[in-house]
Amino acid sequence: MGEGGGRRKFLEPFRGEVPDVPPIWLMRQAGRYLPEYRALRAEAGDFLTLCYTPKLAAEVTLQPIRRYGFDAAILFSDILVVPDALGQAVRFAEGEGPRLDPIRSTDAVGRLDLARATAKFDIVAETVARLRQDLPAETALIGFCGAPWTVATYMVQGQGSADQVEARLWAYRDPDGFEALIALLVAASIDYLDRQVRAGADCLMVFDTWAGSLPDDEFDRWVVAPTRAIREAVRDLHPDVPIIGFPRGAGATAVWYVSETGVDGIGCDTATPPFVMSEAFDEEDVVVQGNLDPLLLVAGGDRLDERVDEILDLMRGKRFIFNLGHGIVPQTPPENVARLVARVRGQG
Ligand code: CP3
Repeated sequence: MGEGGGRRKFLEPFRGEVPDVPPIWLMRQAGRYLPEYRALRAEAGDFLTLCYTPKLAAEVTLQPIRRYGFDAAILFSDILVVPDALGQAVRFAEGEGPRLDPIRSTDAVGRLDLARATAKFDIVAETVARLRQDLPAETALIGFCGAPWTVATYMVQGQGSADQVEARLWAYRDPDGFEALIALLVAASIDYLDRQVRAGADCLMVFDTWAGSLPDDEFDRWVVAPTRAIREAVRDLHPDVPIIGFPRGAGATAVWYVSETGVDGIGCDTATPPFVMSEAFDEEDVVVQGNLDPLLLVAGGDRLDERVDEILDLMRGKRFIFNLGHGIVPQTPPENVARLVARVRGQG
């Protein structure tokens, strides 16, 4: 943990404390809803160039901190940096989302190379090191990776998909072959997260956006087991650095996910009712994070204030971090974000 870690409010819930006002940050807090992001993105041209240019990636990370004073900054990068670094080139076509040449065989997995990935991981670590210098001392820095299952869905499908069909079919038809891909991603994620912590990250988050597409037995093998492996390896290396898991769509299985993976924080998605969020994890030693609907942040107005108050009331007295239930969307008016932060802090 970086120098000054003791003063970071964001970390208090992980130390067993319950601050009067919960820490707040938002998933995708840096991004297209901010005019200053759009300007820098246009300058960089390509999205991955932005991710791999420490000076620019650090600047984008700082933009929402300057505007809103969030309690945590999240490294500006993407979960698809890992397949890109491993040798499966990733392209972000304008307005289309990510494109990759699909990997659907053990041979294709064998052509990926963890040894060569570390050069690109080190570029990201350089962004982290810069940030730790440039961030205010009271602002925590969150590093992250995609969970192996979610990253694999993009690698196998070759793009985003509604139902992750290709990865799910490969996992059923050839579990050993698919396991080779997951095992590589576990090893790569551990190495990548370790480098981020050594460069100065105070906390880590593992994004499992598509965890909800798997039935329970497959969920155990492809979501829980890899996340536990990452959690254990990183805890051995960095016992004081908390990890937040985000098994989006896991529903009632989220409690099982917490107890089986040992994550220190659980990100609740938009569909989790706040009264469930406030009680379901009572038996677990875990910090709860969530879960305002990103579209309510677009709509704004009284409904936004009322829902924020409802979440705050239900989570009072709990080890809680205020966040959205999924990432900010591009059409979000920046002034609504300011309104949200003020409301959570009792200033609006
Ligand atoms: O949260 C942050 O501010 C940190 C940066 C961050 C990005 N992506 C930046 C980004 C993080 C943590 C992510 C995670 C990510 N990336 C996830 C998991 C969380 C989630 O939202 O479910 C996933 C599934 C991805 C993969 C990804 N990256 C997709 C599907 C897309 C295209 C869709 C889209 O929103 O544009 C991206 C691109 C991306 N990642 C952008 C940003 C700011 C937009 C790129 C642009 O400027 O054109």
